[in-house]
Amino acid sequence: MTSASPLRQILDPAHRADPYPLYAELRKTPVVRDGTGPYLVSTYWEIQELLHDPRVSSDARNLNPEAAAFLGQEEEDPNLPPTFLRLDPPDHDRLRDLAMRPFGPPHTPRRISDMRGELAGIVTQLIDGFRGRDHLDLVDSFAYPFPVTVICRLLGVPREDEPRFHVWADTLAAGLDPVHGTPEEREAQRETLRRARADLAAYLAGLVEERRRSPRDDMLSALATDHGPDGRMSPLEMVSTAALLLIAGHETTVNLITNGMLTLLRDPGLLRRLRDEPALAAPFVEELLRFDPPVQLLPQRTTLADIDIAGTTVPKGASLWLLLASGNRDPRRFPEPDRFLPERPDNQHLSFGSGIHTCFGAPLARLETQIALTELTRRLTGPRLAEDPPPYRRNAVLRGPRHLPVVIEGLAD
Ligand code: HEM
Repeated sequence: MTSASPLRQILDPAHRADPYPLYAELRKTPVVRDGTGPYLVSTYWEIQELLHDPRVSSDARNLNPEAAAFLGQEEEDPNLPPTFLRLDPPDHDRLRDLAMRPFGPPHTPRRISDMRGELAGIVTQLIDGFRGRDHLDLVDSFAYPFPVTVICRLLGVPREDEPRFHVWADTLAAGLDPVHGTPEEREAQRETLRRARADLAAYLAGLVEERRRSPRDDMLSALATDHGPDGRMSPLEMVSTAALLLIAGHETTVNLITNGMLTLLRDPGLLRRLRDEPALAAPFVEELLRFDPPVQLLPQRTTLADIDIAGTTVPKGASLWLLLASGNRDPRRFPEPDRFLPERPDNQHLSFGSGIHTCFGAPLARLETQIALTELTRRLTGPRLAEDPPPYRRNAVLRGPRHLPVVIEGLAD
């Protein structure tokens, strides 16, 4: 890389549509200190090793001052204390275990698989809404409303509150991107973020309290009333956890479904294959996760000790950026990494992370995307891209198209 700051190049919107050549350059030096301070790690085995290293912290309170300023995380929010995504053991483990109880095995083993019929129903309804139209934006009319409806139902957010709630969630998701612009613009971004967090926290606190008094069959009620062997979450912890699930259930799956349709529409042979062999959906989604992951990089880790990795000593207190999307294209791990091969064996991509913070929502995200892509390829007739590349969101961390304009001839039943 010629630039002193590959990081600035990654964050540059000009590279958003295709960051993969940049990552290929970076992999020539698996661990590199960026001119702006953080260490960038771009190769598969090194990322995997660091994700499992207890000397690497996810706790934002361990960020050094420059990294905290860069990420806009200088201050703690009293309304929304850190979620388990941003905590280390033992607090991480206690909260993750409690949140997991109503969400999956071993306490609620069929929670997600039992939702298959409901998910298919939402998909059918959204696609039926395309009738009579020949131009669509697959983001606004499908990839966004589908997972957002699902996560709201799962948690028990009333439908009529969803629009308010989307605004907060979008603001918080955008806040994951490093802050940029002039000092005044940066302060304005922080203020918008502060307000969205306060409003969302107040809203969720009200809902948690309501569900505590009259529980229903949803996750918020379970979080508010259930308790594990180590007791219950505090009310603030419940609010933070609910906010985490809502946000995590938003932009990530939206981008996976959109990236999937983009990949299919760019390759009509692939689209035909999925239409003719719906059983391909599961390996197809795994390859999609590897090939074009919604979470491109994890920017917020800090070393708690000097760590030797790939011939470099990363000093204690350094900020680490783990480039998951680059690790997924590492030829030392995946032969022909730039080809999309649904039949690829042993497809252990990094897209849901690895180690103690491995994505909690992966079974849901997988099922949603499998159903979405199977039904879209089956029902859209003559679909083609109206714009390639499509316009991308600014966010480099949660990367995906802002719109996916397509033209269709019609709709099958
Ligand atoms: C395609 C969709 C998704 C992708 C690519 C994705 C990706 C990730 C990644 C990379 C991590 C690890 C973060 C880290 O190590 O710092 C993570 C963690 C997490 N994800 Fe997801 N996610 C997706 C969907 C979801 C959904 C639908 C939910 C909720 C229902 C969810 C909930 C979580 C939670 C709670 C964590 C934190 C786990 C922990 O810290 O122990 N995710 N996700």
